[in-house]
Amino acid sequence: MQLIDGKAVADRIKQEIAQEVAEICNAGGKRPHLAAILVGHDGGSETYVAHKVKACEQCGFKSTLVRYESDVTEEELLRKVDELNNDPDIDGFIVQLPLPKHISEQKVIEAIDYRKDVDGFHPVNVGRMSIGLPCFVSATPAGIMELLARYNIETKGKHCVVLGRSNIVGKPVATLMMQKAYPGNATVTVCHSATTNIKEICRTADIIIAALGSPEFVTADMVKEGAVIIDVGTTRVPDASKKSGFKLTGDVKFSEVAPLCSYITPVPGGVGPMTIVSLMRNTLLAGKKAIYK
Ligand code: GUN
Repeated sequence: MQLIDGKAVADRIKQEIAQEVAEICNAGGKRPHLAAILVGHDGGSETYVAHKVKACEQCGFKSTLVRYESDVTEEELLRKVDELNNDPDIDGFIVQLPLPKHISEQKVIEAIDYRKDVDGFHPVNVGRMSIGLPCFVSATPAGIMELLARYNIETKGKHCVVLGRSNIVGKPVATLMMQKAYPGNATVTVCHSATTNIKEICRTADIIIAALGSPEFVTADMVKEGAVIIDVGTTRVPDASKKSGFKLTGDVKFSEVAPLCSYITPVPGGVGPMTIVSLMRNTLLAGKKAIYK
Protein backbone atom coordinates (compact mmCIF):
# COMPACT_ATOMS: atom_id res chain seq x y z
CA MET A 1 0.00 0.00 0.00
CA GLN A 2 1.26 3.47 -0.87
CA LEU A 3 0.02 6.52 0.94
CA ILE A 4 -0.89 9.42 -1.38
CA ASP A 5 0.73 12.39 0.31
CA GLY A 6 -1.52 15.28 -0.69
CA LYS A 7 0.21 17.69 1.64
CA ALA A 8 3.65 17.07 0.12
CA VAL A 9 2.29 17.41 -3.45
CA ALA A 10 0.38 20.57 -2.50
CA ASP A 11 3.50 22.10 -0.89
CA ARG A 12 5.47 21.45 -4.07
CA ILE A 13 2.77 23.00 -6.27
CA LYS A 14 2.57 26.07 -4.01
CA GLN A 15 6.33 26.53 -4.46
CA GLU A 16 5.91 26.24 -8.24
CA ILE A 17 3.13 28.85 -8.15
CA ALA A 18 5.16 31.19 -5.90
CA GLN A 19 8.07 30.93 -8.33
CA GLU A 20 5.85 31.85 -11.26
CA VAL A 21 4.27 34.75 -9.36
CA ALA A 22 7.74 36.09 -8.49
CA GLU A 23 8.67 35.97 -12.19
CA ILE A 24 5.45 37.75 -13.21
CA CYS A 25 5.97 40.50 -10.61
CA ASN A 26 9.68 40.89 -11.44
CA ALA A 27 8.69 41.43 -15.06
CA GLY A 28 6.32 44.21 -13.95
CA GLY A 29 3.15 42.12 -14.12
CA LYS A 30 0.22 42.21 -11.73
CA ARG A 31 0.22 40.20 -8.50
CA PRO A 32 -2.77 37.78 -8.54
CA HIS A 33 -5.52 38.84 -6.13
CA LEU A 34 -8.10 36.45 -4.65
CA ALA A 35 -11.06 37.63 -2.59
CA ALA A 36 -13.21 35.42 -0.36
CA ILE A 37 -16.64 36.20 1.05
CA LEU A 38 -17.41 34.47 4.33
CA VAL A 39 -20.90 34.68 5.82
CA GLY A 40 -21.41 33.77 9.48
CA HIS A 41 -19.11 31.80 11.76
CA ASP A 42 -19.45 28.14 10.78
CA GLY A 43 -16.38 26.39 12.21
CA GLY A 44 -15.57 24.41 9.06
CA SER A 45 -15.96 27.44 6.78
CA GLU A 46 -13.79 29.60 9.09
CA THR A 47 -11.04 26.96 8.92
CA TYR A 48 -11.24 26.53 5.14
CA VAL A 49 -11.15 30.27 4.50
CA ALA A 50 -8.22 30.73 6.92
CA HIS A 51 -6.34 28.03 4.98
CA LYS A 52 -7.14 29.79 1.70
CA VAL A 53 -5.86 33.13 2.99
CA LYS A 54 -2.65 31.47 4.27
CA ALA A 55 -2.13 29.67 0.94
CA CYS A 56 -2.44 33.05 -0.84
CA GLU A 57 0.45 34.37 1.28
CA GLN A 58 2.53 31.28 0.50
CA CYS A 59 1.91 31.72 -3.23
CA GLY A 60 2.68 35.44 -3.19
CA PHE A 61 -0.93 36.43 -3.95
CA LYS A 62 -2.83 39.36 -2.56
CA SER A 63 -5.94 38.28 -0.67
CA THR A 64 -9.00 40.06 0.63
CA LEU A 65 -11.45 38.57 3.11
CA VAL A 66 -14.95 40.06 3.15
CA ARG A 67 -16.98 39.03 6.19
CA TYR A 68 -20.70 39.29 6.88
CA GLU A 69 -22.79 38.24 9.83
CA SER A 70 -25.26 35.44 9.10
CA ASP A 71 -28.20 37.89 9.00
CA VAL A 72 -26.83 39.65 5.89
CA THR A 73 -29.51 40.01 3.24
CA GLU A 74 -29.32 38.34 -0.14
CA GLU A 75 -29.45 41.82 -1.75
CA GLU A 76 -26.43 43.03 0.20
CA LEU A 77 -24.45 39.92 -0.67
CA LEU A 78 -25.40 40.25 -4.35
CA ARG A 79 -24.29 43.91 -4.28
CA LYS A 80 -20.85 42.80 -3.00
CA VAL A 81 -20.63 40.12 -5.69
CA ASP A 82 -21.36 42.80 -8.28
CA GLU A 83 -18.73 45.08 -6.77
CA LEU A 84 -16.10 42.33 -6.91
CA ASN A 85 -17.15 41.46 -10.48
CA ASN A 86 -16.38 45.06 -11.45
CA ASP A 87 -13.21 45.56 -9.39
CA PRO A 88 -10.29 45.41 -11.84
CA ASP A 89 -7.81 44.55 -9.07
CA ILE A 90 -9.69 41.35 -8.13
CA ASP A 91 -8.72 38.47 -10.45
CA GLY A 92 -10.97 35.90 -8.87
CA PHE A 93 -13.21 35.41 -5.86
CA ILE A 94 -15.18 32.81 -4.00
CA VAL A 95 -18.24 32.82 -1.79
CA GLN A 96 -17.68 30.20 0.88
CA LEU A 97 -20.54 27.69 1.10
CA PRO A 98 -22.81 26.83 2.78
CA LEU A 99 -24.76 30.08 3.02
CA PRO A 100 -27.56 30.77 5.55
CA LYS A 101 -30.91 29.31 4.51
CA HIS A 102 -32.48 32.67 3.62
CA ILE A 103 -29.92 33.20 0.84
CA SER A 104 -30.14 31.31 -2.45
CA GLU A 105 -26.73 29.75 -3.10
CA GLN A 106 -27.62 29.21 -6.75
CA LYS A 107 -28.57 32.86 -7.21
CA VAL A 108 -25.27 33.96 -5.66
CA ILE A 109 -23.21 31.52 -7.75
CA GLU A 110 -24.91 32.68 -10.94
CA ALA A 111 -24.29 36.32 -10.05
CA ILE A 112 -20.50 35.74 -10.06
CA ASP A 113 -18.80 36.73 -13.31
CA TYR A 114 -17.77 33.30 -14.69
CA ARG A 115 -14.41 34.82 -15.68
CA LYS A 116 -13.70 35.41 -11.96
CA ASP A 117 -15.36 32.18 -10.75
CA VAL A 118 -12.18 30.45 -9.52
CA ASP A 119 -14.33 27.92 -7.61
CA GLY A 120 -15.66 26.70 -10.97
CA PHE A 121 -19.25 26.63 -9.65
CA HIS A 122 -20.87 28.91 -12.26
CA PRO A 123 -22.98 27.03 -14.86
CA VAL A 124 -20.71 28.37 -17.64
CA ASN A 125 -17.67 26.73 -16.05
CA VAL A 126 -19.58 23.56 -15.15
CA GLY A 127 -20.89 23.30 -18.71
CA ARG A 128 -17.53 23.96 -20.32
CA MET A 129 -15.89 21.40 -18.03
CA SER A 130 -18.46 18.78 -18.98
CA ILE A 131 -17.66 19.12 -22.69
CA GLY A 132 -13.92 19.42 -22.19
CA LEU A 133 -13.44 23.14 -22.94
CA PRO A 134 -10.94 25.37 -21.09
CA CYS A 135 -12.56 26.57 -17.85
CA PHE A 136 -12.11 26.89 -14.12
CA VAL A 137 -12.47 23.31 -12.84
CA SER A 138 -13.76 23.20 -9.28
CA ALA A 139 -11.00 22.76 -6.76
CA THR A 140 -11.64 19.38 -5.15
CA PRO A 141 -12.15 17.44 -8.42
CA ALA A 142 -9.14 19.22 -9.94
CA GLY A 143 -7.05 18.30 -6.87
CA ILE A 144 -8.06 14.64 -7.13
CA MET A 145 -7.11 14.51 -10.83
CA GLU A 146 -3.75 16.13 -10.04
CA LEU A 147 -3.03 13.53 -7.35
CA LEU A 148 -3.85 10.65 -9.71
CA ALA A 149 -1.56 12.18 -12.35
CA ARG A 150 1.33 12.96 -10.00
CA TYR A 151 1.27 9.34 -8.73
CA ASN A 152 1.01 7.99 -12.32
CA ILE A 153 -2.07 5.98 -11.38
CA GLU A 154 -3.59 4.17 -14.36
CA THR A 155 -7.21 5.17 -14.95
CA LYS A 156 -7.85 4.09 -18.56
CA GLY A 157 -10.35 1.25 -18.74
CA LYS A 158 -10.60 1.07 -14.96
CA HIS A 159 -13.89 0.90 -13.11
CA CYS A 160 -14.18 4.06 -11.03
CA VAL A 161 -16.94 4.19 -8.44
CA VAL A 162 -17.84 7.67 -7.20
CA LEU A 163 -19.76 7.77 -3.94
CA GLY A 164 -21.85 10.95 -3.77
CA ARG A 165 -23.50 13.18 -6.36
CA SER A 166 -22.90 16.69 -5.04
CA ASN A 167 -22.46 19.55 -7.49
CA ILE A 168 -19.11 20.38 -5.84
CA VAL A 169 -17.44 16.94 -5.93
CA GLY A 170 -19.40 13.84 -7.02
CA LYS A 171 -20.83 15.06 -10.33
CA PRO A 172 -17.74 16.95 -11.58
CA VAL A 173 -15.25 14.25 -10.57
CA ALA A 174 -17.40 11.59 -12.30
CA THR A 175 -17.37 13.77 -15.44
CA LEU A 176 -13.60 14.23 -15.31
CA MET A 177 -12.93 10.52 -14.73
CA MET A 178 -14.83 9.63 -17.90
CA GLN A 179 -13.34 12.34 -20.14
CA LYS A 180 -11.17 11.27 -23.08
CA ALA A 181 -7.84 12.25 -21.52
CA TYR A 182 -5.49 11.22 -18.74
CA PRO A 183 -6.41 10.94 -15.92
CA GLY A 184 -9.79 9.81 -17.20
CA ASN A 185 -10.97 7.23 -19.73
CA ALA A 186 -12.44 5.30 -16.82
CA THR A 187 -15.75 3.49 -16.74
CA VAL A 188 -17.63 5.44 -14.11
CA THR A 189 -20.44 4.44 -11.78
CA VAL A 190 -21.97 7.05 -9.47
CA CYS A 191 -23.60 5.77 -6.27
CA HIS A 192 -25.81 7.91 -4.05
CA SER A 193 -28.40 7.76 -1.31
CA ALA A 194 -30.93 5.98 -3.55
CA THR A 195 -28.47 3.29 -4.76
CA THR A 196 -29.58 -0.09 -3.42
CA ASN A 197 -26.46 -2.23 -3.81
CA ILE A 198 -23.55 0.06 -2.96
CA LYS A 199 -21.44 -2.67 -1.33
CA GLU A 200 -21.63 -4.96 -4.36
CA ILE A 201 -20.82 -2.09 -6.75
CA CYS A 202 -17.85 -0.95 -4.63
CA ARG A 203 -16.45 -4.46 -4.60
CA THR A 204 -16.07 -4.28 -8.39
CA ALA A 205 -14.23 -0.92 -8.27
CA ASP A 206 -10.61 -0.43 -9.28
CA ILE A 207 -10.84 3.16 -8.01
CA ILE A 208 -13.22 4.43 -5.32
CA ILE A 209 -13.72 8.17 -4.85
CA ALA A 210 -15.66 8.58 -1.63
CA ALA A 211 -17.40 11.96 -1.32
CA LEU A 212 -20.48 11.29 0.79
CA GLY A 213 -19.62 13.10 4.01
CA SER A 214 -20.46 9.95 5.94
CA PRO A 215 -17.65 9.07 8.38
CA GLU A 216 -16.00 5.65 7.82
CA PHE A 217 -18.72 4.58 5.37
CA VAL A 218 -16.31 2.53 3.22
CA THR A 219 -15.30 -0.61 5.08
CA ALA A 220 -12.92 -3.46 4.19
CA ASP A 221 -15.73 -5.72 2.93
CA MET A 222 -16.49 -3.13 0.20
CA VAL A 223 -12.97 -2.95 -1.22
CA LYS A 224 -11.32 -5.17 -3.83
CA GLU A 225 -7.69 -6.09 -3.19
CA GLY A 226 -5.40 -3.60 -4.96
CA ALA A 227 -8.02 -0.85 -5.37
CA VAL A 228 -7.12 2.86 -5.34
CA ILE A 229 -8.98 4.78 -2.63
CA ILE A 230 -9.52 8.55 -2.73
CA ASP A 231 -11.18 9.82 0.45
CA VAL A 232 -12.82 13.23 0.15
CA GLY A 233 -14.66 13.12 3.50
CA THR A 234 -13.84 15.69 6.18
CA THR A 235 -16.51 15.34 8.84
CA ARG A 236 -15.84 16.81 12.29
CA VAL A 237 -16.44 13.96 14.73
CA PRO A 238 -16.37 14.85 18.48
CA ASP A 239 -13.13 13.69 20.12
CA ALA A 240 -12.44 14.73 23.72
CA SER A 241 -8.74 13.82 23.36
CA LYS A 242 -8.19 16.61 20.80
CA LYS A 243 -7.56 20.22 21.75
CA SER A 244 -10.13 21.32 19.16
CA GLY A 245 -12.67 18.84 20.58
CA PHE A 246 -13.10 17.06 17.22
CA LYS A 247 -11.31 14.77 14.83
CA LEU A 248 -11.48 15.23 11.04
CA THR A 249 -12.83 11.93 9.82
CA GLY A 250 -12.88 10.63 6.27
CA ASP A 251 -15.50 8.56 4.46
CA VAL A 252 -13.21 5.52 4.58
CA LYS A 253 -12.41 3.28 7.57
CA PHE A 254 -8.70 3.81 7.02
CA SER A 255 -7.30 1.26 9.49
CA GLU A 256 -9.03 -1.72 7.86
CA VAL A 257 -9.12 -0.51 4.23
CA ALA A 258 -5.50 0.71 3.91
CA PRO A 259 -3.88 -2.76 4.11
CA LEU A 260 -6.05 -3.94 1.18
CA CYS A 261 -5.43 -1.23 -1.38
CA SER A 262 -2.64 -0.17 -3.74
CA TYR A 263 -2.97 3.57 -3.02
CA ILE A 264 -4.97 5.51 -0.44
CA THR A 265 -5.32 9.16 0.59
CA PRO A 266 -5.24 9.90 4.33
CA VAL A 267 -7.57 12.32 6.14
CA PRO A 268 -6.26 14.86 6.91
CA GLY A 269 -3.34 15.37 4.51
CA GLY A 270 -4.80 13.80 1.36
CA VAL A 271 -7.36 15.56 -0.81
CA GLY A 272 -7.83 18.61 1.49
CA PRO A 273 -4.49 20.36 0.80
CA MET A 274 -4.96 19.67 -2.93
CA THR A 275 -8.31 21.45 -2.90
CA ILE A 276 -6.70 24.61 -1.58
CA VAL A 277 -3.83 24.45 -4.04
CA SER A 278 -6.22 23.95 -6.98
CA LEU A 279 -7.96 27.17 -5.98
CA MET A 280 -4.54 28.87 -5.99
CA ARG A 281 -3.84 27.52 -9.46
CA ASN A 282 -7.21 28.77 -10.73
CA THR A 283 -6.42 32.19 -9.25
CA LEU A 284 -3.07 32.25 -11.03
CA LEU A 285 -4.83 31.30 -14.30
CA ALA A 286 -7.36 34.09 -13.68
CA GLY A 287 -4.57 36.59 -12.99
CA LYS A 288 -2.82 35.61 -16.22
CA LYS A 289 -6.14 35.70 -18.13
CA ALA A 290 -5.10 32.26 -19.33
CA ILE A 291 -8.63 30.90 -19.74
CA TYR A 292 -10.80 33.93 -20.49
CA LYS A 293 -9.33 37.03 -22.12
N1 GUN B 1 -17.67 24.71 0.80
C1 GUN B 1 -17.14 23.47 0.78
N2 GUN B 1 -16.23 23.36 -0.21
C2 GUN B 1 -16.19 24.55 -0.83
C3 GUN B 1 -15.43 25.06 -1.92
O1 GUN B 1 -14.63 24.38 -2.56
N3 GUN B 1 -15.68 26.37 -2.25
C4 GUN B 1 -16.58 27.13 -1.58
N4 GUN B 1 -16.75 28.37 -1.99
N5 GUN B 1 -17.30 26.69 -0.57
C5 GUN B 1 -17.09 25.40 -0.19
